[in-house]
Amino acid sequence: MRIFIIYARKARTDNKFLLKDLAGSGGKMDTVCRFVTSCLWVSHGLRRDVDIYLVLNGPPRPPITIHISGENVKRMDPNERSIAIWIQKSLKGEITKDWKNIQEGIKVSAKSFQEIIKSLSDRPMYVLEEKGEYIEDIEIKENPVFVIGDHLGMPRNEEKFVLRYGEKISLGKQPYFASTCATILNWILDKRKL
Ligand SMILES: C[S@@+](CC[C@H](N)C(=O)[O-])C[C@H]1O[C@@H](n2cnc3c(N)ncnc32)[C@H](O)[C@@H]1O
Repeated sequence: MRIFIIYARKARTDNKFLLKDLAGSGGKMDTVCRFVTSCLWVSHGLRRDVDIYLVLNGPPRPPITIHISGENVKRMDPNERSIAIWIQKSLKGEITKDWKNIQEGIKVSAKSFQEIIKSLSDRPMYVLEEKGEYIEDIEIKENPVFVIGDHLGMPRNEEKFVLRYGEKISLGKQPYFASTCATILNWILDKRKL
């Protein structure tokens, strides 16, 4: 099982954003949607061994976390629009700290980034950062959790919090999109049969 978490600093936490303007009205929701595609899809279908947490921290009611289970999700296509529609559905109505089921494999809660990290802290955890330990030089343990920033990177205090449980790893000096990081990580894990 692979878990990917994105910390999206500006992504909207209600459903009042435009599907044709995910970047502007959605607070870079396009980045979040592309991230989901890169985490979950291969050419002929879904990666059933992937779980994703989208931690949305934009206005008007942060934090909101959407959880997508590759094992259970249905009726989702790999295009940005389809994913954005599911995110909009997830962000409709009242959201509390308890997980609310949106459809099979998608649930939402008002849990914060730190609450999600704590709940996964029994797994090996890796924070993606250019200045971390080069991934080719380290062993990735089974059932890893990868924490990735958005276009603005992770806030320092949140990064410090994750590092209580995990370590910083790098894909090299070149900064990549969050979605590209997910693709590279999936490729490396496939190669290592993890
Ligand atoms: C577009 S980058 C963010 C760039 C942002 N300007 C910054 O300084 O953090 C999005 C996220 O992808 C991850 N990332 C991008 N390139 C990386 C690399 N070469 N190695 C490890 N992580 C990387 C980091 O988690 C980063 O927060």
